[in-house]
Amino acid sequence: MATQSLYLFSLTLLSLLYLAKPFVPTNQFLLNCGSHANASLFNRVFVYDSANPSSVSLSADRSVSVTDRNPSPNSPVLYRTARVFTAESSYKFIVKKNGTGTHFVRLHFSPFRARNFDLGSAKFNVVANGFLLVRGFGVSNTVLKEYILEIDGEFLEITFSPVSDSGFAFVNAIEVFTAPKDFIIDDGARLVNNNGIENYKNLTSQVLETVHRINVGGLKLTPFNDTLWRTWIPDDGFLVFKTAAKQAVTTHVPNYQTGGASPEIAPANVYMTAQQMNRDNLTLNGIFNVTWDFPVGSFGASYLVRLHFCDIVSPALNQLYFNVYINDYAAYRDLDLSMLTFHVLSSPVYLDFVVDSEDSGVIHVSVGPSDLSTPSRINAILNGAEIMRLVNVKGLHGESKKGNVWIFVGLVVGGFVIVCLGVAAVLLIFKCKKKKPKPPRRVESAGWTPLRVFGGSSYSRMSEGTATTSPGPNGSLRIPFVDIQAATNNFDKSLIIGMGGFGMVYKGVLKDNTKVAVKRGVPGSRQGLPEFQTEITVFSKIRHRHLVSLVGYCEEQSEMILVYEYMENGPLKNHLYGLKHPPLSWKQRLEICIGSARGLHYLHTGSAQGIIHRDIKSTNILLDENFVAKVADFGLSRSGPCLNETHVSTGVKGSFGYLDPEYFRRQQLTDKSDVYSFGVVLFEVLCARPAVDPLLAREQVNLAEWAMQWQKKGMLGKIIDPNLVGQIKPSCLKKYGETAEKCLADYGVDRPTMGDVLWNLEHALRLQESGPDEPCDAEDGNMNGMDHPTPSIITTSGNNDTEKDDPIGSLDLTTGQIFSQLMTKDGR
Ligand SMILES: *[C@@H]1O[C@H](CO)[C@@H](O)[C@H](O)[C@H]1NC(C)=O
Ligand SMILES: *[C@@H]1O[C@H](CO)[C@@H](O)[C@H](O)[C@H]1NC(C)=O
Ligand SMILES: *[C@@H]1O[C@H](CO)[C@@H](O)[C@H](O)[C@H]1NC(C)=O
Ligand SMILES: *[C@@H]1O[C@H](CO)[C@@H](O)[C@H](O)[C@H]1NC(C)=O
Ligand SMILES: *[C@@H]1O[C@H](CO)[C@@H](O)[C@H](O)[C@H]1NC(C)=O
Ligand SMILES: *[C@@H]1O[C@H](CO)[C@@H](O)[C@H](O)[C@H]1NC(C)=O
Repeated sequence: MATQSLYLFSLTLLSLLYLAKPFVPTNQFLLNCGSHANASLFNRVFVYDSANPSSVSLSADRSVSVTDRNPSPNSPVLYRTARVFTAESSYKFIVKKNGTGTHFVRLHFSPFRARNFDLGSAKFNVVANGFLLVRGFGVSNTVLKEYILEIDGEFLEITFSPVSDSGFAFVNAIEVFTAPKDFIIDDGARLVNNNGIENYKNLTSQVLETVHRINVGGLKLTPFNDTLWRTWIPDDGFLVFKTAAKQAVTTHVPNYQTGGASPEIAPANVYMTAQQMNRDNLTLNGIFNVTWDFPVGSFGASYLVRLHFCDIVSPALNQLYFNVYINDYAAYRDLDLSMLTFHVLSSPVYLDFVVDSEDSGVIHVSVGPSDLSTPSRINAILNGAEIMRLVNVKGLHGESKKGNVWIFVGLVVGGFVIVCLGVAAVLLIFKCKKKKPKPPRRVESAGWTPLRVFGGSSYSRMSEGTATTSPGPNGSLRIPFVDIQAATNNFDKSLIIGMGGFGMVYKGVLKDNTKVAVKRGVPGSRQGLPEFQTEITVFSKIRHRHLVSLVGYCEEQSEMILVYEYMENGPLKNHLYGLKHPPLSWKQRLEICIGSARGLHYLHTGSAQGIIHRDIKSTNILLDENFVAKVADFGLSRSGPCLNETHVSTGVKGSFGYLDPEYFRRQQLTDKSDVYSFGVVLFEVLCARPAVDPLLAREQVNLAEWAMQWQKKGMLGKIIDPNLVGQIKPSCLKKYGETAEKCLADYGVDRPTMGDVLWNLEHALRLQESGPDEPCDAEDGNMNGMDHPTPSIITTSGNNDTEKDDPIGSLDLTTGQIFSQLMTKDGR
């Protein structure tokens, strides 16, 4: 034990140390061009190119070194020399065999007047490994051009070709260095356009050119402040309505987490500041967005928009929900940073989007309130933004873009241009090798989350009875995509058994003949990703006879698929009302209530932390072939309060009609919120009508209110399902009604625990089943033996509207919009 905690401790310590270490690229070339001496910029030493370092070769038939004779006093030494090419010439950088992959390439241009050349009049093209980086390029000010590209061979060749009318090209300095692993990943970005949202493939095969790099709400950050020697500029100049935004600043260092953004993705300073909605203006103007306009040029290029987030404005988790728009498309709705960061507050994450530029030549980025926000917590934030052009033009010939593009970009980049561009590190050769155990890919970028929770652990063996095998390797629940295709006949439409915000639910049969329900997220969309994660995280902790078992999951090829045991008889709701199924007997209903209470009791108390389901309703209680009830859909679940807390603060989620009023009022979630929802289900089971039925008379719309009125009058028997008339013993009904009533108490403290509910329902069942010695029986209408008069049961009330086929269907539509990604409709 002691050694174990020691081990953990040293692991923690180690990871801290690794975090603190500077990034060490596998390849790093810093070249001071046209010089005879080293020069440094931002503490990095640029080696003069005529030193002929063995790994860099210059093939230049006609090149000359030029020197600024008349440098301004504050111009860096690095920029006082340049190499001029009067014919096509190239630098070739030989990369280490094991060092291929994504690289940064930075070209420094700082024009000056040399003896025979006015560098400001140069016009040239630059090509890197066949990609045309700039065309007809010329500068009048210092410009740093930064590219991110993949080197998949042994070298990188950067070629400078003068355009005929100027006759020469030049460059002052070049940086080439390996990017951190997974800095750019395939499949990690969302393509945002009018075709909806899909994954953008093959991002790493693109060359990216940095256009803007913004520290939103913060100060300018220089290469001194950034592990990758980047410059970040403030966002002030890009904010459309400055008064709409308000700076947020924290002094706490962000909680970098494996799976989230790393300090290389963006330094702490970026995540420690943000712009948020200026809430002073909320009441004044109603809700609004905060918008930035980033000029990029009006030609038809695509851009990678990388947005950085870190919730430094909320006092607790799950309080901030907001939408992200790019070029007026909803790029990410109901963003809940808590979900993306494995429930750690102030934890940095980033999201990648690919968008096309519009005719306006501007990329608009907006953040604004989500419908899920509770009124007191309406807010939206942004901590950082990077905009990179996709340079997908190969070579000099395949390209047909406008010629003056680069002049424009030169202007645009003005903001990004670094006048005092420095560079140069003390540390050209770090001996310390970085061994930080890099997790799978970061959460939010992966098509689907790498599920760290399944480290070949024993979860999959904890099954209580059900035949839930784990087909994946290492005892994990991973199922190969091909197996799922086979099981569902390649997602045959005729096998669809349900549909939800998350995606389609298919019936399937695995190789071992296990019947399964396959819930498939819209491929390539990350909608529902948080629920996907939660579901798996939660399932990793629990197995129970009355909880639907997760058989496995698949996250290959940007698929997000959950595989559950198949529940032959579907949702409880379908057996309560609607005309599809014969009515359940009272005993069956009681047993179903008892089973689901048992599952819920286990959720609350059985696992390590206690789990709150958050969305108990009759569609989330499923019935197997023997009508055994199992609780399903943990997508909204979250762990219960920790030892010293009594509740979890959270945005209100759940389904109308089942929502704990206290939870709604105070946004405090306790396991008693589930008890409330369960009370609604109890009345639903008894009365065979939906929790909310907008087609009924005003006082009947909400089942909880309506049933409670009758229960309080002691006349619950008046409103029971006509099919149950004559079946329920009064003592049983009394117990049942009291139990439901207690569940619906206004305040959580007054509600019983699920354990008490379970006990009472079991008692109700015993009353139902006890022999004729029992004081009364429904049939004989004898009401004595009760504490208070129970009415003569079983006269059917005039309310027969419950026979309508599922009137809630129409309501689901509206709630569906509000809780779009949260609700999963009937399924499996
Ligand atoms: C230039 O810098 C390189 C790398 O730091 C070093 O190896 C070399 O000795 C330096 N050369 C001179 C002349 O200072
Ligand atoms: C890459 O190869 C070099 C030798 O070529 C070796 O020193 C270095 O440790 C290797 N790095 C990695 C990350 O494997
Ligand atoms: C992705 O890149 C690979 C290799 O460059 C190529 O074979 C494949 O066709 C590309 N896929 C798409 C969708 O562009
Ligand atoms: C950036 O680095 C410079 C030089 O080390 C330092 O003076 C400055 O305070 C840093 N800025 C921030 C925001 O950390
Ligand atoms: C927001 O409020 C400030 C004062 O707090 C006011 O000056 C500004 O005009 C308001 N902005 C908008 C967009 O209404
Ligand atoms: C925010 O911007 C989006 C996209 O332009 C727009 O659809 C939405 O209505 C805006 N929201 C508010 C509250 O103005």
